[in-house]
Amino acid sequence: MPTPGWWLEESKHVMSAQPQNKESSRLRALLAWFDARIPLTQIIEKHATEYYAPKNFNFWYYFGALASVVLILQLVTGIFLTMNYKPSAAEAFSSVEYIMRDVEWGWLIRYMHSTGASAFFIVIYLHMFRALLYGSYKDPRELVWIFGMLIYLCLMAEAFFGYLLPWGNMSYWGAQVIVSLFGAIPGIGESLVEWIRGDYYISDITLNRFFALHVIALPLALVFLVVTHILVLHEVGSNNPDGVEIKKVKGPDGHPVDGVKFHPYYTVKDLVSIVAFAMLFAAVLFFAPDFGGYFLEHANFDPANPLQTPEHIAPVWYFTPYYAILRAVPNKLFGVVLMGLAVVSFFFLPWLDRSKVKSIRYRGWLFKGFLFSFAASFLALGYLGLQPATPGYTNAARVFAVVYFAFFILMPWYTKVDRTRPVPDRVRYNP
Ligand code: HEM
Repeated sequence: MPTPGWWLEESKHVMSAQPQNKESSRLRALLAWFDARIPLTQIIEKHATEYYAPKNFNFWYYFGALASVVLILQLVTGIFLTMNYKPSAAEAFSSVEYIMRDVEWGWLIRYMHSTGASAFFIVIYLHMFRALLYGSYKDPRELVWIFGMLIYLCLMAEAFFGYLLPWGNMSYWGAQVIVSLFGAIPGIGESLVEWIRGDYYISDITLNRFFALHVIALPLALVFLVVTHILVLHEVGSNNPDGVEIKKVKGPDGHPVDGVKFHPYYTVKDLVSIVAFAMLFAAVLFFAPDFGGYFLEHANFDPANPLQTPEHIAPVWYFTPYYAILRAVPNKLFGVVLMGLAVVSFFFLPWLDRSKVKSIRYRGWLFKGFLFSFAASFLALGYLGLQPATPGYTNAARVFAVVYFAFFILMPWYTKVDRTRPVPDRVRYNP
């Protein structure tokens, strides 16, 4: 049976047998010119054509490429929005309306950016869940995970600062609630809140600095962190659904026998996911751009009004699991600390997990049980954070917060005593 990719090898053969035309020799000369000045070919080879990725990547491995695509989408649409947006309390709301109604294709760019924000978090949450499924945070990928978590923190800050910019009523009151949380810190709290706002209330000054952070500081940090995330990953090599280190079994050519070159195999495979994603994205964009109030909240179609709070203040869905934890605690300071811990706990996973195996395929029922109750509690908290803070919902949030933290706190125990199955030496591959 022909091996996958036989056509590529064959076509290379045919191509090399052909006499070189003028264009291809010019291209080679240009490449040689660059190579003498910057290691271009070396970079392309190291990160694409000679980067060996495990051959058994499945559905869950699409989301890294998709996250890169959404990052680019946000950067490009953001640049075009900035061309017509006015970062001032007097003009911000109407400049967004102007973009929506008068700027050519402005509505499309704005909806791409607002839908893109939610899409980013959907993709990132699935990307992170994959790491939990296959133990991708474990040795030797701790740094890949840490840089991923730094990206996640940056992304949350980026989304939070961006949400103030349309200067809608939910932008205003959402920022008010979140910034005032820093006031719970004993001693320095109040001065810290004033320092963040730059004023005694959320004002034009706050909007200006959030704009600066949203359009330049955080995008720069994000791009830097993403590049580092991928460089670190390419140093240690990708994990896979079997959690087997493919570098351990190499062929006579020195390459992992269970690996395939990232380009063209995964560039082509990822392209399929990009097309599928683009279809889903377009469906939301054209038929439900506010997604029933989940992607763009209804109260944000009213301009900011410091004299009137929205009926019910809730952050956008991607923050609500943490918001539910905050509201579940009666004491403000303790609530803020617990909310912070809910995010920070992820950083410690590489050291909390004591299991000898990485992938869920070879873990026992204890880990599976804890992982799925954790995922369920995250979703349930996300739902509860969107609801009004009635006693019933608050009590439910307390129960789910306990399940959420049990995943982290008990991890050293259940990963150690869990009955794992033997891991094969080679990856299982079912094309
Ligand atoms: C803008 C955001 C991000 C981008 C563009 C990005 C990109 C990528 C890419 C392209 C890969 C390789 C392909 C893949 O394994 O899917 C990858 C792998 C990985 N990422 Fe991310 N990532 C982002 C955020 C995150 C976050 C927030 C985390 C976790 C906190 C994370 C953790 C990981 C891990 C552990 C791997 C290795 C997975 C494995 O080898 O099994 N990433 N990332």
